[in-house]
Amino acid sequence: MEIECLTGILGARATGIDLRKLGADDEGAADLRAAICAHEVLVVPGQDLSPADQTAFSHSLGPYSPVPFVQPVDGHPEVIRVVKEATEPEAFNFGGVWHSDFSFLPAPPAFTILHAIDVPDVGGDTVWASMTAAHDALEGGVRERLGGVTAIHSASASYSPAQQGLHAQLSGMDIRTSEDALETQRHPLLCTHPETGRRSLYFNGTYVRGLEGPGIDGSDGPGGERALLDWLHEWTTHIRFTFRHRWSKGDVVIWDNRSTQHVALDDYRGQRRELTRTTVAGSAPAS
Ligand code: SIN
Repeated sequence: MEIECLTGILGARATGIDLRKLGADDEGAADLRAAICAHEVLVVPGQDLSPADQTAFSHSLGPYSPVPFVQPVDGHPEVIRVVKEATEPEAFNFGGVWHSDFSFLPAPPAFTILHAIDVPDVGGDTVWASMTAAHDALEGGVRERLGGVTAIHSASASYSPAQQGLHAQLSGMDIRTSEDALETQRHPLLCTHPETGRRSLYFNGTYVRGLEGPGIDGSDGPGGERALLDWLHEWTTHIRFTFRHRWSKGDVVIWDNRSTQHVALDDYRGQRRELTRTTVAGSAPAS
């Protein structure tokens, strides 16, 4: 396997590897895992994975991480399809706001694996931002202040029953909203990656719905919770912390949800985009 960095911050390309041939006990799987953790996003071009192959490859990185709200592909309970038809230009764009996958769970997935089945000629890129780079660039005083903050994560803005009409616009995906989306989870705002030991600013504007900590009040004023949420969103998604991938059919991209957040761009009107997705179990984020 050869690894080539794609930016100076995050993102790398791995070549010379066939993901269908990796077993969980292989040295290759351990090397791949280390590369994903180190580079945060790893692009592996030229793969041809059936849903069964993708499930097997996912297991080489760890056990399945359950997917709430989104129904799996028939016969492949661990695989979901991310698809928008050419005839649905006005439809909701799945993954189209900055988020880290399912950060509202007690133990969010460590990795997500996305495999390009059908991609637009142009458009539909995905962008990732490094939450470790966003952490490392903080000034000391700001970092100290944020170290005492707890983030309240919830899927309420995305998967509560009020959003059912939005999700129903996508004919190729079966998304079932539920009252469960109103549940909340508290995770530290500054976390330590369990494998690399690097610190990250574990924030995303979609699932972090509130903040608790010394000096944070619920006001809309300059020192209040709303202002800090807005600042955190602007800071963590700044272009200098990002990597953008233009998809080709056969690409597999694996990313570390513990150190990145991402967004899918919705700029491919009249074209079809389909990818298959699996997720690998993680642990409770810890400071
Ligand atoms: C996702 O957020 O899981 C989907 C990302 C994408 O479609 O690019």
